[in-house]
This record gives sequence, structure tokens and C-alpha cells, in this order.
Amino acid sequence: MKTIIAYLSEIFEKAFVACGYEKEYGKVTVSNRPDLCQFQCNGAMAGAKRYKKSPLQIAQEVVEHVDKAPFEKVEVVAPGFINLVLKDEEILKAAVAIHEDKDFGLNKVSDETVVVDYGGPNIAKPLHVGHLRSAIIGESVKRLAKVLGYRAIGDVHLGDWGLQMGLIITEFAEQNPESKYLDDRYDGEYEPLAISMDDLNEIYPRASKRSKVDEEYMARAQQATFDLQHGRRGYMALWREIVRISVADLKANYEKLNVSFEYWYGESDSEKYIPDMIAEFIEKGYAYESEGALVVDVAKPEDKAPMPPVLVRKSNGSQIYATTDLATIKQRMQDFHPSMILYFVDNRQGLHFEQVFRCARKTGLVSEDVVLEFDGFGTMNGKDGKPYKTRDGGVMKLRDLIDNVCAAALEKMEEAKTGLELSEEEKKETALKVGISALKFGDLINYRAKDYIFDLDKFMSFEGKTGPYMLYTIVRLNSILTKAKEKGFEIGTLGLPKTDVEREVLLKTILMNEVFWQAFSDRAPSGICENAYQIASLANRFYYENKILSEENEERRGELLAFCEYVLRILKLHMEILAIDVPERM
Ligand code: ARG
Repeated sequence: MKTIIAYLSEIFEKAFVACGYEKEYGKVTVSNRPDLCQFQCNGAMAGAKRYKKSPLQIAQEVVEHVDKAPFEKVEVVAPGFINLVLKDEEILKAAVAIHEDKDFGLNKVSDETVVVDYGGPNIAKPLHVGHLRSAIIGESVKRLAKVLGYRAIGDVHLGDWGLQMGLIITEFAEQNPESKYLDDRYDGEYEPLAISMDDLNEIYPRASKRSKVDEEYMARAQQATFDLQHGRRGYMALWREIVRISVADLKANYEKLNVSFEYWYGESDSEKYIPDMIAEFIEKGYAYESEGALVVDVAKPEDKAPMPPVLVRKSNGSQIYATTDLATIKQRMQDFHPSMILYFVDNRQGLHFEQVFRCARKTGLVSEDVVLEFDGFGTMNGKDGKPYKTRDGGVMKLRDLIDNVCAAALEKMEEAKTGLELSEEEKKETALKVGISALKFGDLINYRAKDYIFDLDKFMSFEGKTGPYMLYTIVRLNSILTKAKEKGFEIGTLGLPKTDVEREVLLKTILMNEVFWQAFSDRAPSGICENAYQIASLANRFYYENKILSEENEERRGELLAFCEYVLRILKLHMEILAIDVPERM
């Protein structure tokens, strides 16, 4: 389907060509002065130098040649802008086309794959608030990519292969010296590991702390990491058990956030690609020995800051973070043939990814036309401007944060006294949805790369740019339509806008394609949140300005209901992309 921007651009391109100018100057854009016009064409300004004429002259000439049929107003404004206002009929026509299209009239790509690397949790370490952003931003960009026609593949890239595994094994050995998992001569079956996630959550911090002060312990942990990575049978079995317990816990947490992955691959899954990859690096002369380690240089003469070489194998023989990331690129290229791999990881890992990407290109793991992109995100801070902590200053676990937010939602719902009779069960379910919407919308509305302040009261409010406000609006529209159905009212078809609000809503919706593509190219859901909020607030104004169910003129009522249905569908699409669930009632 042709978008409104494409349609209007074509009209102006024709006029520019008719006047003997290049077609490219006919591009029409959304107005940045909505008080003056809806769209504008600035090609006359751009072309002035090339054609040695004043912009005003070019603009006037073009406007004389342009097909004015779709426009209410075509106005040349000094020093050479062309301001445009569409006829309501045209706006309606475009909105109807979107309403009738199952894909909302969006421009879609075909046959392109994008791999989204997000989540990035680590085995046996609890998810903390730092993992929240990667999970929800990545999920949303992945969904957006799907809506725009990509085959989008989400991979959680579990941290399951590094030193932390050796640390856990070492600490486990301290506590269970008799365990069969540690016995090198044992060749029987292993009993399932009877420890809980809470136990695991204690083991890692203890091990990590001790490794920092106890050299001998650290040496053992490094040896254990090496042995694991080289397939020691008991360690592998123990590791598999730890992964099993951890993954079950991770999945439960992600499910609450509406986050799900196509692949649960871990760093360990890249292991089988490593030997060949390293052999090739050496053979082709990319990797060389340096102080016992194997490294690849990735610095470039134009670098302003130091760019250390990539360490692909440590002097003790273990692989590290960069190696598993490189081998994972190899695996993804082989299995998925993506045109893009996007990484949603904390801003602070920017250097690591720059090194990995350079190395991947230099060594030919990916060709130049494949996009490798680090999409860093900022920190969630507390009101003091420092990374968000628990009340006693500890690291906030994601599970606890979710519980807090849901408890606050429940309290808020009790206070609001909506008069709704909800069962305890339904109340809990609704509180989960309201709480998660507050948490996610409050986060996602901030531009990805920026830090933001977590302010539960603000996020939970039913006013302003919040999740609960969005849900409230959608639930209201839903309920109008349900009541209409109960009364046997007919839902009509969209009609010409009767008020400014209706016109503005329709205009917003016909520009959705541009908003979605912009959000995707920013790899940032904030634009989707903002758009959803603007449409919702117009929808609420529409609701207050009209009697909908009590409208007596049947035709007008049908139009109003069609309007509700259309806006509802559009808002639900936004929520679907943001991966925010909407309750039936609230
Ligand atoms: N597990 C890592 C961490 O917690 C994040 C993984 C990010 N993704 C990647 N491909 N390295 O820091």
C-alpha cells in the first residue's frame, strides 16, 4: 500500500519535474509546524543553489504546476517553504485504507532476517534491574521488526560459559567435597542436583567475593573453568544441572515481563565453532601470540582513543567473552544468514562490541553488507541519580522489583474504588498487568541510550505518559464497544472528521508508518510510546467531547463506534509492539 508521504511526494515530484527540476526535490515531509500546516515540501530551498534561483521563485513555479486536488491549502511561505493542508476526504481515504488492511498499511521488507541479541542473563546470578532494560527494549524492537516484515530472531545469549561457572563449581566443591560430580574416576549416572535457585543465588556472590582476596581459590576457579570448557565429564553434568535450574527461574521472570526468545542459546553453544575459528585466525595471520595469549589487532590509524587488541585465548587456555561473541557471530551467519545483528546491551560494554565487530570484519566472519550494531542503553537510576538500589543499598533483584510494582498496582486499584467486582484471582492478574505496564512504559518512553529515573509513583499514575493511562484508555474503548454490541448497535464505517480532535487522530494514524520506521531505525521503542500516548490522549478527548452510546442519530453513532474501533485497533498494535498486556477490565 502506498503511504500518504509516498503519495504526496509523488505529486510534488511530478511538479518539480514538470518545471525542469530534479525529482528528488519533491520529497514531502510531516510538518514541523503543525499549527501552520500538516505537511510541507522544502525542495525549493534545497534546490535554490543548484538552479541559481531564489527558493521563493522555485516554490511559486512548482506550486503552479502541482495537482491541487487533494489539498485544502497549498501555500508558499517565505523564504520558500511550501505548506500543505489535506482535504478531509483525503485524510479519511487514507485512514480507511489502513483500517481495511490487515497490515495497517505499513511498508514492509521481505526476505530479510534480523537477529536480536538481548536479555543476556548469567547463569546462577539473579536477574537484577540492569537486566530489565535489555530484556524489554530488545523484545520491543524485535516485535517492531516483525511488524515491519523482518524475520526477527531473538537470542537470549545466556552467560553460561565464563569464569563465573568455574567460580560456582569451585564454591560447590567447597561445600560438597564428597559429591560424585567432582570425582574424576566416577563413570556412572549422576543424581539430579537438589539445590534451589535461592541456594545458587548465594553461591555465586560468595565465590566471587572470595576469589578477589584469595589467589589460590581464584586459581582453582580458573582451572575449573578450563576443565569445564574442555569437557570434563562431571563438571559438564554439574553445569547442565545448574543451567537447568537457572533457566527455569529465568523463564518465569521473563514470562511476567512478556519477554520470550526464539533461541535460548548460550555462550557455551558457541564452543563448537571456536577451534576452527581460532585455527583460521592463526592460519590467515590475523591472530598472533602475545605474552602467552592469542590476540587479534583491531586498532585503526584514525582511532582517537586506545583500542586494545582482542584477546581470543588467554594464556591459561580458556576462552573469554570476546571469543564466545565472535564464535556466536559465526554460528548466526551460518544458521540464520541475517542482514543485521543488533545487540541490546548496557552502554558500558561499547568498547567490547567495537573490538568484536572490528575483529569479525577483519577476519571475514561477516561481510561488509551485514550490519553489526551495538545498541547500548542507559542506566535505571534512583531518585538520587545513582543506579537504582534496594532500600538498604543492595542490588535490586528483578523479581523483587516486579513484586513491588505489582503490590503498588494492587494498592492503587483498591484505592481507586472503581466499583468493579473482581475475584481475588482476577484482581491479582489485573494488578500484574497494571504493574508491568507501569514498569515497562515508564522505562520504554525514555530514549534507549539515556539514563532515567525510576519513579514508581509517577509510573503508576493514571495521568500522563504512563502504562496505566494507556491501559485505562484501551479498556475504556473496549468497554464502549462491548456495551454497543450488547445493545445491538451497528458499528458503522469511518466518517469525515467532524472535529479537530477527530482530524488529529486520523492524521496521526495515517503517519504511523513513518513513526514506526523511525523507531526501528533508532532501534528505540520510545517513539512508539510517545505516539501511543498522543493517540490515547486524543482518544480520551474524543470520548469527553461526544456522547457515543447515547447518540440518537443512528448513522452518527455508527461512525463514532467505527472511530472507537479503529483507534482501539491502532492502540492495541502499539501495545503489542511494546509487549504490554492489556486487561479486560480494570
Ligand atoms: N551476559 C552479559 C552480561 O551480563 C551480557 C551479554 C550481552 N550479549 C552479548 N552477546 N555479549 O554482561
